[in-house]
Amino acid sequence: MVYIAYYTCILSVLASPLLARKSARQAVDNDVLNWVDPLIGSQNGGNVFAGATLPYGMAKAVADVDGENTGGFSTDGSNITGFSALHDSGTGGNPSLGNFPIFPQICPADDIDTCKFLIGARATQYKSGSVQARPGFFRVTLENGIHTEMTVSEHAALFRFDFSQAVSGNGSTNPMIMLDLTDLWASRQNASISVEAEDSTGTGRMKGNGTFLPSFGAGSYMAYFCLDVGGGKIKDSGVWVNDRAGTEPKELYVTRGFNNFYLQAGGFIRFQGPLTGPVLARMGLSFISTEQACQNAEREIPGPDFDLESLVTSAEEAWREKFAPISIEMGGASNSSQTNFWSAVYRTMISPQNYTGENPHWQSAEPYFDSFYCIWDMWRVQLPFLTVLDPLMMSKMVRSLLDTYKHRGWLPDCMMSTCRGWTQGGSDADNVLVDAYVKNLTGIDWNLAYEAIVNDAENEPLEWSFQGRGGLTSWKKLNYIPYLDFDPVGFGTNSRSISRTLEYAYNDFNLATLAKALGKDTDKKYLARAANWQNLFKSDQRSSINGVDTNFTGFFQPKYMNGTWGYQDPIACSPLAEFCSLTSNPSETFESSAWEYMFFVPHDVGKVIELLGEEETFLRRLEFFHTSGLADIGNEPVFLTVYMPHYAGRPGLSAKRVHSYIPSSFNTSYDGLPGNDDSGAMASFTILSMIGLFPNPGQNVYFITPPFFQSVSVVNQLTNATATISNVNFDKDYKNIYIQSAKLNGKEYSKNWIGHEFFTQGWTLELVLGDSESDWGTKVEDRPPSMSDSQGGMEMMMQ
Ligand SMILES: *[C@@H]1O[C@H](CO)[C@@H](O)[C@H](O)[C@H]1NC(C)=O
Ligand SMILES: *[C@@H]1O[C@H](CO)[C@@H](O)[C@H](O)[C@H]1NC(C)=O
Ligand SMILES: *[C@@H]1O[C@H](CO)[C@@H](O)[C@H](O)[C@H]1NC(C)=O
Ligand SMILES: *[C@@H]1O[C@H](CO)[C@@H](O)[C@H](O)[C@H]1NC(C)=O
Ligand SMILES: *[C@@H]1O[C@H](CO)[C@@H](O)[C@H](O)[C@H]1NC(C)=O
Ligand SMILES: *[C@@H]1O[C@H](CO)[C@@H](O)[C@H](O)[C@H]1NC(C)=O
Ligand SMILES: *[C@@H]1O[C@H](CO)[C@@H](O)[C@H](O)[C@H]1NC(C)=O
Ligand SMILES: *[C@@H]1O[C@H](CO)[C@@H](O)[C@H](O)[C@H]1NC(C)=O
Ligand SMILES: *[C@@H]1O[C@H](CO)[C@@H](O)[C@H](O)[C@H]1NC(C)=O
Ligand SMILES: *[C@@H]1O[C@H](CO)[C@@H](O)[C@H](O)[C@H]1NC(C)=O
Ligand SMILES: *[C@@H]1O[C@H](CO)[C@@H](O)[C@H](O)[C@H]1NC(C)=O
Repeated sequence: MVYIAYYTCILSVLASPLLARKSARQAVDNDVLNWVDPLIGSQNGGNVFAGATLPYGMAKAVADVDGENTGGFSTDGSNITGFSALHDSGTGGNPSLGNFPIFPQICPADDIDTCKFLIGARATQYKSGSVQARPGFFRVTLENGIHTEMTVSEHAALFRFDFSQAVSGNGSTNPMIMLDLTDLWASRQNASISVEAEDSTGTGRMKGNGTFLPSFGAGSYMAYFCLDVGGGKIKDSGVWVNDRAGTEPKELYVTRGFNNFYLQAGGFIRFQGPLTGPVLARMGLSFISTEQACQNAEREIPGPDFDLESLVTSAEEAWREKFAPISIEMGGASNSSQTNFWSAVYRTMISPQNYTGENPHWQSAEPYFDSFYCIWDMWRVQLPFLTVLDPLMMSKMVRSLLDTYKHRGWLPDCMMSTCRGWTQGGSDADNVLVDAYVKNLTGIDWNLAYEAIVNDAENEPLEWSFQGRGGLTSWKKLNYIPYLDFDPVGFGTNSRSISRTLEYAYNDFNLATLAKALGKDTDKKYLARAANWQNLFKSDQRSSINGVDTNFTGFFQPKYMNGTWGYQDPIACSPLAEFCSLTSNPSETFESSAWEYMFFVPHDVGKVIELLGEEETFLRRLEFFHTSGLADIGNEPVFLTVYMPHYAGRPGLSAKRVHSYIPSSFNTSYDGLPGNDDSGAMASFTILSMIGLFPNPGQNVYFITPPFFQSVSVVNQLTNATATISNVNFDKDYKNIYIQSAKLNGKEYSKNWIGHEFFTQGWTLELVLGDSESDWGTKVEDRPPSMSDSQGGMEMMMQ
């Protein structure tokens, strides 16, 4: 049933003659969902959410563990502590959400006090090989034989607990479901629960709410739940505190008391065993109220008989529909390439999350998306990829960012659990808005977007740790962010003077692009500011590793307000030195070295090449960077460096570099990500690299490299046109990775880059491959534009 529906869907959306020739049987084998493995990145810091969710869904159900639990579950061998239904994906640092976990158990004897309520006591291993993760579905069997399955709707989750194979608890057969008023980070400030159980109907309800802290942001948030459990005759119910429980009272309010001591508490419902079937637990969620949590559950997963299978089917349909615009001709490429690809596509749609109707901060008819965690990670490839795959949704995300500006006075830089997240670099929502503009996303108020970006560029907020920019007085007066700036206007972490200078310069370049396009008279002013990065280039700076000179000259360095240079070792903050974040080892470059930031001038690579001493030196430096251990392939600033050779007329070197990282650093193992997925940032690097069109967002530019498959086609949602990029002489072993010549819509094409029209107008790009570099795409006029080129400058913003 499901598979036939998929077949129809592929046919209608893709109308590909190739697929049309295939039999229905082949379509069954080719169900795209079979190529998605949500467990990729579930250990070694990938921190992906591995459980059940809808595309961009708010409800995300999974088993939570006590090891690497930033995204809830991990295959790191740690123990399961609960099952919860709010999560983020791929984030770093503190674990996010995981509120109100429930936990099934059979307590020894009949005494409720023998149940294991505390997190450490109840943590349990699971049976090896019992984990199954698919889009919209997750299952695992606990060590004691309790079999658990889960799926979701938009704002509710459904869990099924089968106790029939459970090791009975010392003579007892009475299953208990408990709920813990906690979250993964144990950030709860205070919380309430009330328990109602009807012995006669065999259903019990626990509902309540709690105040928690965002995992990487300011303030606090309230979350609400409404849990209905059914499956047999109810024996008793009540609340628990510490490891003691009672059937009276049926309500509880818990706070943080002496020294902020963390009291564990919650509710429970116990059934009279043995049961004839499984226990079903429906968890409704909301950020508005307990009533809304109950309504969400009742509307999306109607009772009294909860149907897990049909919910799974709907979730699978929703995912297939999202994957439908893309089709691949394998050309003999490996199954693992295909799994790598589709699993990555899947992970780009876990977050941002659609919280429309769940925004507690303001009322609006506009869409509301949350878990932009963080835009510093997402603007580079993930959001540009969604612009390719899902432009209608991307427009709504952009509208949500603008609505946030309207109601909070500032564009967000990072958002999680409805709170403002910490800013890492520049005001990077600016880049997202302008990328949407140059790619013609529809339904967006561009004058409002201009106003919002100008606000970032001109006005310094009191708290620039979570919105806007800091040091704007110096930025306007000195034309760089000084080392040890004097800034009494606003407050933030006053580090990162080099990386903020580079990021603000790119933010201002994007603003200039929009200003010019909208006919404002500020474009020249912002274009001038876009060159500010040059003020921190110290042309005689050298760099040594373990006392050996690397023989490259010229790096960004910190500069005091008085114009005197400061010093930061160019290899500091690289993988060869100590990591630098906002709180640990804060430095003048953020999460990356001066070596890596040398290549972060997305709008003027041509000028960088000139400053570093022409193409050969630039290419040697890039090569050294990628082979010396200085490059941090597990973090976002590195992405663009992989494609830099395009600017020096050597697109073949970019292709070669991509293949040195995929699959060796981005692959299908559970530890197959080199760093935090960061909502889907690592995923989208994989996808657009494998498609062979990598963006430089904010500009209408994709770098061309050969796809990892025979061909890839993408249907554009706005125009229904199908774009195809294909290889001639495709070699599944990737020896032929060098473009010899190219045809665009049948005509010779020599540029090594292309605009977004490729997708909107449904063009066909055919690449002829060979096993060594050719002169294709090497000429000066074939390279992507740079701001200070003779042919670049203002023109590049108008393509
Ligand atoms: C998991 O729990 C078991 C007891 O069930 C314990 O022996 C083991 O050490 C725990 N594993 C971890 C990784 O904490
Ligand atoms: C059974 O449970 C009772 C009550 O907790 C306990 O005293 C007893 O030791 C348990 N027996 C076994 C074999 O676990
Ligand atoms: C929070 O939960 C408690 C317990 O169910 C309930 O009394 C209270 O009304 C809830 N508050 C809100 C705002 O929903
Ligand atoms: C927790 O306390 C804060 C501050 O007193 C209050 O605003 C909030 O409503 C409380 N939350 C819950 C869940 O009771
Ligand atoms: C690749 O996947 C197909 C379809 O699932 C399967 O029939 C084939 O055996 C797989 N090939 C390898 C080498 O695993
Ligand atoms: C977002 O969620 C709202 C509320 O559930 C829904 O009406 C809307 O269709 C969703 N938006 C998208 C773009 O899926
Ligand atoms: C830089 O040049 C010096 C002198 O020729 C040489 O000893 C050194 O090994 C070179 N450094 C690197 C990293 O190759
Ligand atoms: C500039 O300021 C720095 C830091 O205060 C100081 O070390 C340096 O001597 C000053 N340079 C000049 C030329 O005054
Ligand atoms: C897969 O990727 C991980 C993370 O980058 C890496 O550590 C591992 O060596 C890779 N595995 C293979 C087989 O290439
Ligand atoms: C694209 O196709 C859809 C579905 O057939 C249709 O509703 C829509 O009008 C088409 N859009 C364009 C621009 O042709
Ligand atoms: C955007 O629209 C303009 C004006 O219609 C057109 O010239 C341009 O090619 C479009 N860009 C894309 C990426 O579709």
